[in-house]
Amino acid sequence: LMRKIYIAGNWKMNKGLQETKNFLETVIPELNKLKLENVIPLIAPAYPFLEEALKGSYGSCMQVSAQDVSVHSEGAYTGEVSAGMLASLGLKYCIVGHSERRQYHNETDATVNAKILKLFENHITPLVCIGETLQQREEGKTENVILSQLSGCLKNIKLLSGEEIILAYEPVWAIGTGKTATPSQAQEVHNLIRNWLKSNYSDKVAEKLSLLYGGSIKPGNLQELLDCEDIDGGLIGGASLKEEDFLEMVQIGR
Ligand code: G3H
Repeated sequence: LMRKIYIAGNWKMNKGLQETKNFLETVIPELNKLKLENVIPLIAPAYPFLEEALKGSYGSCMQVSAQDVSVHSEGAYTGEVSAGMLASLGLKYCIVGHSERRQYHNETDATVNAKILKLFENHITPLVCIGETLQQREEGKTENVILSQLSGCLKNIKLLSGEEIILAYEPVWAIGTGKTATPSQAQEVHNLIRNWLKSNYSDKVAEKLSLLYGGSIKPGNLQELLDCEDIDGGLIGGASLKEEDFLEMVQIGR
């Protein structure tokens, strides 16, 4: 069984042009020394720096992702960026449904679903985020929330090989709070997701699809999370911004 392990840095609204260049100049030569096989390092800078990130990582194993995409294809949508535009840069990945988009920009599972369809049309791999809030967890609703997010986000989405989509479980209460889910809490939800994929797609799709965990990952807690059977990498915010921490986490994923 060889699922790809992603060490994915979501930079959120951090780093300008010079900081993006500095990161790449430091990190890429080190990654090149590592001869990675199953681990895919990935960064998601803000839109204006995607092209620089693609240039800087060209020829290396580093992958570049956008943080969001429009549900629209083109037209009078001021401030929006379409999947076609991202594809025109040569971009191969895009995060959708991050809890910060859901929380501050009213994104729903239906929005996420529409974005996934646009990305597929443009041959971009969506990295789809789901996860429960603290209140939902405390009310014992985690399982229901996750299952309804899965069926809403993936409605009418055909997955043939399982490689075309990545899922990230990010418990909202663990994002940027320093409170990581314990490995067993995370594994429990990952197993639920994997089983849902088995029954709604196929064993093959479920076995191949990479399921990332996100929420206060740092070099010190990544190993125990990756040791879990159904955790195939991390979607990392804060700790992905520092070159040495990012590199350390890629090494841990190896
Ligand atoms: O996309 C990344 C997650 O929101 C996690 O952020 O590592 O800063 O908690 P964090």
